[in-house]
Amino acid sequence: VNASQLRVMISGAPAAGKGTQCANIVEKYNLVHISVGDLLRDEVKNASPAGKRAKDFMDRGELVPDEVVVDMVKTRLAQGDVQRSGWLLDGYPRSASQAEAIEKEGIRPDVFLLVNVPDELLIERVVGRRMDPVTGNIYHLKFKPPPHDVVDRLIQRSDDTEDKCKVRLDTYHKNVDAVIGYYKNLMVEIDGNQSMEKVFANISQVIDAVKAGKDPLEAFC
Ligand code: AP5
Repeated sequence: VNASQLRVMISGAPAAGKGTQCANIVEKYNLVHISVGDLLRDEVKNASPAGKRAKDFMDRGELVPDEVVVDMVKTRLAQGDVQRSGWLLDGYPRSASQAEAIEKEGIRPDVFLLVNVPDELLIERVVGRRMDPVTGNIYHLKFKPPPHDVVDRLIQRSDDTEDKCKVRLDTYHKNVDAVIGYYKNLMVEIDGNQSMEKVFANISQVIDAVKAGKDPLEAFC
């Protein structure tokens, strides 16, 4: 694997810790982070046609239709910074049809990371999450308390309620097996029910091995 063009997919249930770990991965490996949730939230904020179409689906915790998402991701993956530095794709594909759409373009990762956290822990992670709109940093009221000087400006995502999290979780479980089917030979499962530092140590071990040209499945035992 050409270390400067590493291609990593990260998947997992809502609030499994994908965004948290992506920040660590980007800092260490300099990949371009493509978070489809963040791209969509930007579109909604800008009230673009794609954002207007996506908003209701996101508010309900359902998948935004492919006609909005697929081209958005394909376009981003084709941009110069991504081509030069490699990519970290977070939140895509989320269905068989989304996987199929990039398979057709010959787009495959070097490794597919699946972050596993038991369902019963995810609601607490969701409702306690807060985001700093200035830095993009993700905090948790209990698990990663924000520093005092930023507390007043933190925001909570509108889909971060218990009810909406249940729908998002349901959507995830309905689709995950189909997605995994496309990446079985590249998939490494990561135990997301550990400290953030331990989760990242596991992920680093996998990425280092992949960069060294090892088979992802043998990278982490
Ligand atoms: P998206 O933004 O991707 O949301 P998600 O998948 O539900 O994931 P989250 O961002 O909620 O969680 P995360 O895993 O990043 O967790 P985090 O690190 O923040 O998607 C949102 C919506 O957009 C979807 O519902 C859908 O409508 C739409 N969408 C997106 N992609 C789409 C696609 N491909 N197709 C169609 N529609 C799409 O961590 C969560 C909290 O836990 C934080 O507070 C954090 O501090 C804490 N935490 C993290 N790790 C740990 C740990 N190890 N221990 C304790 N606490 C931890």
